[in-house]
Amino acid sequence: MAEYQNHTGIAPSVIELRGVSKIFRTASRSDRAVLEGVDLTLHQGEIVAMLGKSGSGKSTLLRIMAGLVGADRGEVRFRGSRLSGTAEGIAMVFQSFALFPWLTVQQNVELGLEAQGVHKAERVRRAEAAIDMIGLSGFNGALPRELSGGMRQRVGIARALVTEPDLLLMDEAFSALDVLTGETLRDEMLDLWESGRANIKSILIVSHNIEEAVMMADRIVILSSDPGRIRAEVRVPFARPRNRDSAQVRALIDEVYMLMTSPAVRELRVPALAPAQQIGYRLPDADISQMEAILDMLCESPFFGRADLPHLADEASLTDDDLLPACEALQLLGLVAIERGDITATELGRTYYETEPGERKVLFGKQLLAHVALAAHIRHELEAAEDGEVGEEQVLRELEAFLKPEEAERVLTVAIGWGRYGEVYEYSYNSGMLTLPREEPAEAAGAAGSPNS
Ligand SMILES: Nc1ncnc2c1ncn2[C@@H]1O[C@H](COP(=O)(O)OP(=O)(O)OP(=O)(O)O)[C@@H](O)[C@H]1O
Ligand SMILES: [Mg+2]
Repeated sequence: MAEYQNHTGIAPSVIELRGVSKIFRTASRSDRAVLEGVDLTLHQGEIVAMLGKSGSGKSTLLRIMAGLVGADRGEVRFRGSRLSGTAEGIAMVFQSFALFPWLTVQQNVELGLEAQGVHKAERVRRAEAAIDMIGLSGFNGALPRELSGGMRQRVGIARALVTEPDLLLMDEAFSALDVLTGETLRDEMLDLWESGRANIKSILIVSHNIEEAVMMADRIVILSSDPGRIRAEVRVPFARPRNRDSAQVRALIDEVYMLMTSPAVRELRVPALAPAQQIGYRLPDADISQMEAILDMLCESPFFGRADLPHLADEASLTDDDLLPACEALQLLGLVAIERGDITATELGRTYYETEPGERKVLFGKQLLAHVALAAHIRHELEAAEDGEVGEEQVLRELEAFLKPEEAERVLTVAIGWGRYGEVYEYSYNSGMLTLPREEPAEAAGAAGSPNS
C-alpha cells in the first residue's frame, strides 16, 4: 500500500519482535523452549500469515504479541514502544469465538470498549457500527446460541474491530467453520481490509491451511517446531482478490507445500538429542486407513509412485489438516519420502501397497518398532515387565517430561492406535493397561484385566 511507505520505500513497522523466546516448565519440571529467538516485524499495510505444525508455538507467539503472556527473552515493540501487558490498538480473534453466552451480540461487542473505559453512548454507537460492518445488523439483540457458527465468528470479529485496532491477530479464526462459511468470511475480511474501512494497519493470521495463507497474505512465515523459530518466509506478490486456480497461485501453493514438508525430512534425519527425547516426538494425528488410502492412491494411476502434494490433496479431496499428518506418518514409517513438495513411495512403500490387507499389519508393526521410538519404548517396557503389562499413566508421566499433559495424551493415543494396528501391543480401554499381544508367550498372559480388550 503505497500511501504507507516512507522515503526508504519500506512501510513503518506496526509491531516488532526481536529474539523472542518462551520456555515452558513441564510436569516433570524440566524446561522446554517452545519459542527461541523469534524475529518478526509486521509493517503497515500488510497481511502476514503464519504456518507451522501443531504445537510449534503459533498461538503462544500470538499471545505474546497480544501482551497476554510475557516473553522469557527478547522484546516486543508495538508502535515503537516496548509492549508490556495488553495494549489498546491490538485485538485478537480466536478459533473458539470466545463469546459470553449470556450476553447479546451487542453486549459482547461492547465488551471490548468497556475495558477501555469508553462511555455508554459511544460504546453503543461504535458497537452498532462494527456489527453493521461485519454484516450482522438486525442481530444486535440475539444471544450467541441463536446464531450459526459463521455468525458467531462474525461477533468475534466485530468485538475486535470495535476497538479500531492497528493490529489484528487472528488465531485460526476460520478453521472451526465449515469450508464454505470460512471462505465467505475470509473473503469479506479481505474486502474490508482492501476498503480501508476498518482502519487496521496490519493483520497476522495463524492458519493450518496453506491455500488460505496464499489467498490472503502478502507474506507467509513458517514456524519450525521444537523450538519454534521462523525458518522460512515467502512473499505473495499477487493483487487481491486472487484466483485460486490461476497458475501463479497454484505454483506458490506448491512452493509453500515444499517448504512445509521438506525441512521435516531434514528434522527427521538429524538424530534427536537424546534417546529419551525421541519418545517425545510429536507423532502426527494420522488415521491409519487414511494413510493407507493415500499410499494406495500414490502408487496407482495417474501417479504411479510419485506426486506433488497439492495435486495429491486435490485427488484425495483432503484438506492440508488431514493430508499433511498422514504424509508425515507415512514418512516416519519409511513408506514414502517427501522432498521439495513431492511425495514418492519408497521401495518398502510399494511393497506395502502390493501386500494383502491382512499382511499389512505385520509390515506396519515392523516399521513402527523400527522408526517410532515411543512404540519401541512401550514394547520394550512390556517385555521387561514381569507381568507383561504397563499402565498408561506410567507412559504419560514419561511423556510429560517433554510434552504438555494434553499433548502427551494425544501423542500416546496415536502411539496406542498404531501399536494396536501393528499388533505390537494391546491396550484395554477399561483398565488403561498396555499389554503384550495375546499370542505372545508372555509369562503372565493371564494378568488381571487383560482378557477383555
Ligand atoms: N501454559 C503452558 N504451559 C506449558 N506448555 C505450554 C503452555 N502453553 C502451550 N504450551 C506448549 O507449547 C507448545 C506450543 O503450543 P501452541 O499452542 O503455541 O502451539 P500451536 O502452534 O498454536 O499449535 P496448534 O497448531 O495445535 O494450535 C505446545 O507444546 C504446548 O503444549
Ligand atoms: Mg494454536
